[in-house]
Amino acid sequence: MPWTGRHVVLGVSGGIASYKSCLLARRLVERGARVDVVLTRAAAEFVRPLTFEALTGRPVLSSIWERDGALAHVRLAHAADLVIVAPATAHLIARVAQGLADDLLTSLLLAATAPVLIAPAMNDEMYANPITQSNLRALTSRGISSVGPEIGGLAEGPSERPGRMSEPETIAAHAARLLRRGGPLAGKRVVVTAGPTRESLDPVRVITNRSSGRMGYRLAEAAWERGGDVVLISGPTSLVAPVGVAVRRIETTADLARAVGEALPAADVLVMAAAPADYRPAEPSATKRSRGDGALTLALEPTEDVLASTLPLRKAGTFMVGFALETGDAAARGRGKLARKALDLIVVNDALEPGAGFEVDTNRVTLIARDGAEQVLPLMDKRAVADAILDAIEARLG
Ligand SMILES: Cc1cc2nc3c(=O)[nH]c(=O)nc-3n(C[C@H](O)[C@H](O)[C@H](O)COP(=O)(O)O)c2cc1C
Repeated sequence: MPWTGRHVVLGVSGGIASYKSCLLARRLVERGARVDVVLTRAAAEFVRPLTFEALTGRPVLSSIWERDGALAHVRLAHAADLVIVAPATAHLIARVAQGLADDLLTSLLLAATAPVLIAPAMNDEMYANPITQSNLRALTSRGISSVGPEIGGLAEGPSERPGRMSEPETIAAHAARLLRRGGPLAGKRVVVTAGPTRESLDPVRVITNRSSGRMGYRLAEAAWERGGDVVLISGPTSLVAPVGVAVRRIETTADLARAVGEALPAADVLVMAAAPADYRPAEPSATKRSRGDGALTLALEPTEDVLASTLPLRKAGTFMVGFALETGDAAARGRGKLARKALDLIVVNDALEPGAGFEVDTNRVTLIARDGAEQVLPLMDKRAVADAILDAIEARLG
């Protein structure tokens, strides 16, 4: 629960996208945050306070004049670690730009010292209007962060111009990055590799492995939320690119070695979570092989050793993290690889353990550091494993 103990004020203004803010409230609660929802009068026309009260387990505030409202704007402004406004209507943005404080939400935004994140959402013409643009610039020039709006369907129909509110997951990721600002990974270039590689047998068939890419994707997502400037070098997967992360797609182990070689000079941290194919067909066929040709014996040749290929390219101080997926005696093999490949940290797991390794959302790993420290982690969700790995990296970054 990365947000345990953090207090988030979620302001909701009167846009049609306020229905998506119910999901956002839920995401924030799931991450462990204490969430106080503040509705404008118009927002309460779209979503009943009861919905947010049920989702957050806390009373919803909407008027500066009501029972719990007395000085609530000051109380909430001081207590909040983060204020999110989603959706932020054109009207709300205009009021904040002018410094108006004519209701609970605008008053607390004026009093807030915590970071503020707004998610504008409106009709595309309203968004493109120079008055709205100028109001938004006024907000961002005063340090208010903004996410979206995006191009996509609006309530009134499809649009090819921005106006649609960012999805709750995207807003939650930006919020996480704001909450963790200033940590050891802030501004650091983090390169993560993920997924399997694929080697062609013929134009339609490949040799690959069971890696889903989930571990690397969760690492890239978590590193971005910690302020990193993240590049994800990904083999073929069906996963959605994490928010904020630059994704470079590769296919073969040779592609992976090339992409890592290119990314390495700028990298402060390299995390090699990909599962590259160790062998490729020595003579891939230019045409589809047919069963009618009879029995087939394949000659395989070893692929590039990607980690070893980085040894001459590493700049001093790049923090190197490797993964060792073994089947038996994993820790001992991991220690050997840590030394052989001159790593700072190795993440070891056993592919035969239930719930660990490929194609599952969980993993059970042991972290072994160059300084000799070993941390045996319980079976955890891969995002929690990613956070534990990043904690270990952050604790050792110079
Ligand atoms: C059905 C409906 C949908 C609306 N959707 C939006 C919207 O997405 N974005 C927006 O800026 N205003 C929208 N409005 C207009 C706002 O509700 C109106 O400007 C209101 O004064 C906003 O008040 P508030 O910013 O205090 O919440 C909508 C109005 C209606 C009736």
